[in-house]
Amino acid sequence: MSAVVVYAPVPAGTHPDNDSPDYGSTALRHPKQPKIQIPPSSTEALGPKIHAVRFDEEITDLTRNGGDHAIGERIVVHGRVFDTEGRPLVGAPIEIWQANAAGRYVHIGDDHQAPLDPAFRGVGRMRTDQAGRYRFLTVRPGAYPWRNHWNAWRPAHVHFSIFGDCSLSRLITQMYFPGDPLLELDPIFQSIPDPLARQRLISAFDLGATVPEWALAYRFDIVLRGARATPIEPGR
Ligand SMILES: [Fe+2]
Repeated sequence: MSAVVVYAPVPAGTHPDNDSPDYGSTALRHPKQPKIQIPPSSTEALGPKIHAVRFDEEITDLTRNGGDHAIGERIVVHGRVFDTEGRPLVGAPIEIWQANAAGRYVHIGDDHQAPLDPAFRGVGRMRTDQAGRYRFLTVRPGAYPWRNHWNAWRPAHVHFSIFGDCSLSRLITQMYFPGDPLLELDPIFQSIPDPLARQRLISAFDLGATVPEWALAYRFDIVLRGARATPIEPGR
């Protein structure tokens, strides 16, 4: 006998359509056929947990890569991760990656004419604690051009990947910053139909989490599924 795991449905408009015409590359990488719904079963409930994944090392400070300090505005990015029922996800692997303060990634495909920063790590990873909390020290990423259309610039953002209790509960998304004028112009951010869902991708300035004389702070809470699910990227 197999148990059936019931997931809360994702409300319409919460996630982008697979094909978002204004976000040009989605046309090249989304399924052309409708999804086949396979009900989650005991495999997901009782099988090996993705939490068994091991990091070689946890990286919570992206601002140091050896002895030097990364250039840019130092910030704390932190928050909590919840499941459908509002319970904190304990020990969930969480990864972030981002451009440096000049808007350049440490990636062979990034040819943006902006300087690399050897002191900036670009990637962080850790597990959530007993309250579902995570915390990274990084620098505020710069905007960068991405050639989706003429004069296209991505708003400053941090990429996130989080695993829940099974592989069905992996979320890949992006965190933005409040007050960024590029948000209204960004086809990726705007591909999420529901304006309230879009707002859930914007972090909140968090005075209480700032480090005096050292770093400002932004809070970004994440919900993996359900009515308040954090929007997921197209085609994921
Ligand atoms: Fe990016």
